Amino acid sequence: MKIIFFIIIITSFTTQPLLSATDSLKPMQYNFSFNGIFGGIDKNSAQRGLQVFTEVCASCHGLNHLAYRNLEDIGYNKTQINSIAKQFLIDDIPDENGEIKKRNAIYSDKFVNPYPNEEAAKVSNNGAYPPDLTLIVKARKDGANYLRSLLLGYEDAPNGFDVGEGYYNKYMPGNVIAMPQPLYGEDVEYQDGTVPTLEQEVIDVVTFLTWTAMPELEKRKSSGIKVIIFLVIMTIFFFLSYRKIWKDVK
Ligand code: HEC
Repeated sequence: MKIIFFIIIITSFTTQPLLSATDSLKPMQYNFSFNGIFGGIDKNSAQRGLQVFTEVCASCHGLNHLAYRNLEDIGYNKTQINSIAKQFLIDDIPDENGEIKKRNAIYSDKFVNPYPNEEAAKVSNNGAYPPDLTLIVKARKDGANYLRSLLLGYEDAPNGFDVGEGYYNKYMPGNVIAMPQPLYGEDVEYQDGTVPTLEQEVIDVVTFLTWTAMPELEKRKSSGIKVIIFLVIMTIFFFLSYRKIWKDVK
C-alpha cells in the first residue's frame, strides 16, 4: 500500500514539468517605477498610459470600476478630466418620451464601456470576450510583468501549430489569444513629447493599469514605512529605558 502511494507521489512530481512544458512562458521581469518599498506610480507614465488606453484599448475593453473623477489621483484637474470624458458618449436619462439619447460623458461618470453588453462584445470579437481591465493586473499572477510580456509576446506561430482564429503569443496560457496584437509602436502621439516606441507604450499602459487595479498602492506603502519607522523608534526607546531601569540591579 505504502509503495503505491510512494509511486503516485513520485510520478505526480515528475510529470509536472512535462505537462507545463507545453504551457506559456513565465513573464519577463521588469523594474517598474512602482516596484520596491519606496516605489510609487510614475504619474507622467500613468497619464501616457491613459492616452494609450483611450486611443487603442478602449475600443474593445472597459474599465467598469473606474470613474473619470478618479483620474485626479494621477494628476489631472477637473477641467482636464471633463475634456477627457467628453470624447465618450454615454446613455442619458430617458427623456419625456421615454427615449434614451446619448450625451457626452462628464467628470462624475463612470468610464464608458465600448459595448452595451457581454454578448455584443463577443459578437464583435469572434466569440471571445475582452475582459474588463480595471483589475486585470491584480487578477493575473505577477500581473504587471505578465501584461508587459503579453503585449510584447506576439510572434509567428511555430510550424504546424494551429492557432485557429486566434494569434500566437508565448505568454498566453495555451499560447493562443483571441486579441490581435494591439500595439506596435507609434500607435499614439504623446502630448508630452515622449517617443512612442512599442516598449514605452507598453510600460505606460501597464503603469496606468497597475494604478487602476491598486489605486491605494502609494498610500499603503507610505503608511507601511511610517509603521516601520515608528517601530524602530519605539524599540530604541524601550531598549534605553530598559537599561536605565535595570541599571542598579545586578
Ligand atoms: C480589437 C479588440 C481589442 C483591442 C483593441 C485590445 N484588446 Fe485586449 N483583448 C481582446 C479580446 C477579444 C481578448 C480576449 C482574448 C482571449 O480570451 O483569448 C482580450 C484580452 C486581453 C487581456 C487578457 C489576457 C488574459 O490573460 O486573459 C488583456 C490583459 C488585454 N486584452 C489587454 C489589452 C490592452 C492593454 C490593450 C490596449 C493596448 C488591448 N487589450 C486592446 C480584444 C482587444
